[in-house]
Amino acid sequence: MSLSEELYQIENDARRVLNGVSNKETLEEFRLEFLSRQGALSLFLRGLKDASLEDKRTVGKRANDLRANLENDFATKERELSGKNKKKIDVTIPGSRPAQGHLHPLTIVRRDIEDLFMSMGFEIADTPEVEEPKYNFDMVNIPLDHPARDLMDTFWLNDGRLLRTHTSAGQARVMTNRKPPFRILIPGRVFRHEATDASHETTFYQYEGLFVDDKVSLVEFKGIISEILPKLLKKDVKIRMRPSYFPFVEPGVEIDVSCFFCKTGCSVCKQSGWLEVMGAGMVHPNVLRNVNIDPKKYRGFAFGGSIDRLAMLRFGIKDIRLFWSGEPHFLKQF
Ligand code: FA5
Repeated sequence: MSLSEELYQIENDARRVLNGVSNKETLEEFRLEFLSRQGALSLFLRGLKDASLEDKRTVGKRANDLRANLENDFATKERELSGKNKKKIDVTIPGSRPAQGHLHPLTIVRRDIEDLFMSMGFEIADTPEVEEPKYNFDMVNIPLDHPARDLMDTFWLNDGRLLRTHTSAGQARVMTNRKPPFRILIPGRVFRHEATDASHETTFYQYEGLFVDDKVSLVEFKGIISEILPKLLKKDVKIRMRPSYFPFVEPGVEIDVSCFFCKTGCSVCKQSGWLEVMGAGMVHPNVLRNVNIDPKKYRGFAFGGSIDRLAMLRFGIKDIRLFWSGEPHFLKQF
């Protein structure tokens, strides 16, 4: 066996024995066998005096390195066995809190909308996202040849159904089989086949309200939203109505709140001082007739708006696309 092989053998044996050390006695046996003056390494080094110059230089250096390593490992093992390496645990230190999840901003606003309308006697209804054209269009007074069908770019499915373009698609579903008076709120996801930008998404949330009774008018509607909108936006806003057009209401109006980002006009309100928040109006007699409610006996108002746009106004969010981004920096703010 060459000197180099002999040294490998000593190293292997030493490591095997050290690995098996489990108490102070076996550690001492290791020291005596490999590191003491009569140990294997000392004998090996002493035997090098007759070796060639080359072996003295290379194998001698390796043997000395091995001794230094083994002495180091020996000291570590000695500390381990005497318990000096043990980490002290201070059981009185308070634990760290696990990170808590929180609601998505759209969920916060949707829940607030639901709570506020429920406090005014509205019941919440859920209607399908995958809808029949009959409900999305025909029943809400948008017949096939009506130009209003072009107002909303629609995602069509192969089977002739569609992804609802507005929560108004739920109007006929909830009014069929119900006798007035009733107050219903339909919050839900809607889809539009259009290009996205800072204020337009292909998927966003709307809420739809319906209040049908024998004497109800837009006066009650204005009373309700004058209560609710400031609470939703957490701002003391003024409210105004402007005439507008939606096929399922007559007359139709658009609701604006006073801009709370500026006093004299800014880019959010496009220098107008007003922010558009929802569409509304008196339910069109055709829509009532479609669900067998007599428009001579009953009237109602309907309203609908975007939950995303309300959340943007409330939290000062500049780009609607952030809602779906899953971006942690964005979501952590709420
Ligand atoms: C409607 O969807 C009507 N169904 C609302 C309505 C209900 C009127 C009941 C009258 C009575 P409109 O298409 O304007 O209306 O959409 C309503 C709101 O959704 C808009 O004011 C706007 O704030 C928001 N909105 C429209 N398109 C998008 C889009 N691509 N991304 C995000 N929000 C949108």
